[in-house]
Amino acid sequence: MKVNFVDLKKMHEPIRKEIDEAIKGIVDNTSFILGKPVELFEENFASYCGTKFAVGVNSGTAALHTALLSLGIGKGDEVITVPNTFFATVEAILHSGAKPVFVDAKEESFNMDPELLEEKITSKTKAIIPVHLFGQCCDMKPIKEIAEKHSLKIIEDACQAHGAEYNGKKAGSIGDLACFSFYPAKNLGAFGEGGMITGSDEELIDKARVFRAHGEKPKNTHNLVGYNYRLESLQAAVLNVKLKKLDEWNSMRRTVAKKYNEILGDIKGLILPKEMSYGKHVYHLYVARVKERDNLQDYLKEQEIFTGIHYSTPVHLQPACSFLGYTKGDFPVAEKLMQEIISLPMHPFLTEEEIDFVGEKLREGLK
Ligand SMILES: Cc1ncc(COP(=O)(O)O)c(C=O)c1O
Repeated sequence: MKVNFVDLKKMHEPIRKEIDEAIKGIVDNTSFILGKPVELFEENFASYCGTKFAVGVNSGTAALHTALLSLGIGKGDEVITVPNTFFATVEAILHSGAKPVFVDAKEESFNMDPELLEEKITSKTKAIIPVHLFGQCCDMKPIKEIAEKHSLKIIEDACQAHGAEYNGKKAGSIGDLACFSFYPAKNLGAFGEGGMITGSDEELIDKARVFRAHGEKPKNTHNLVGYNYRLESLQAAVLNVKLKKLDEWNSMRRTVAKKYNEILGDIKGLILPKEMSYGKHVYHLYVARVKERDNLQDYLKEQEIFTGIHYSTPVHLQPACSFLGYTKGDFPVAEKLMQEIISLPMHPFLTEEEIDFVGEKLREGLK
């Protein structure tokens, strides 16, 4: 048996006809950038997240960069985030001209440790980017309290957390702005690149709209230098169809996670992901921990079970960030986690047989 890490074909099969029609509509209409399909998707996505507005852009990275610019963040400013994230979180901070400052993760949740946050704040700090890693929200209450106390803005990096919840609130509706990626393998994925900024502050959202389209407002007037971060209509049309399935797919992911928890719970040396009491995990990734991670991954690959590592090197130790002056040992929790994590196959259509097979081989591999 071969177990794929993700299976987009299976996700698209039941809605293929509707997607084909949506694409045909765009091709017939020949309006390929922004326009009605993007506006419709923005409305639907904002309503899904529980925000007043949403701004479609062409990647999660573009969303983060645009959000930072809309908040007026740039050279001389500091932005706090975590080192155990995809590189793009930090890349966007660097693109804005600001300096990324890291705070370590909490072992049980993989997410930003609020208890270590306040000591990182300086007179230059302007914003915090909590990353809802793997599909689970950060503990936002203490993070928000600290942000309010120090007049800092919050940009949620919700690129892995479409539909996740924190105390009943959807990811994307908690910070001043929030950013999503529609990279194909995400819980809500496009047929290419895509991203979104959500928020309820009209002024900030207007700025984001201007930045994403060359700083042009009104037509033919460029009051600022923006970017070409426009979302394509084809992607919006596909995403509009897929959005209707998001809750169903997320609940199927939760069923897969529950089954993994049941069959893997008693394996010695294997630490399973924990759903925190304050939220609803949408399992973009099902990330377990084990000391002999690389050996296990090789063994599973030999059995045709495909896993991932998200990610193997924390951002502060990436060569491109060496100029920031961090060294090994600066963020011990994130560093330890990143040596032990293994992402097991996870998608809504994983069958019971496949899950059992993963469990059986994992048990064998850890003997
Ligand atoms: C946590 C996180 N932030 C940012 C991004 C960047 O999104 P994109 O790849 O759409 O630019 C990703 C995507 O992988 C991500 O997982």
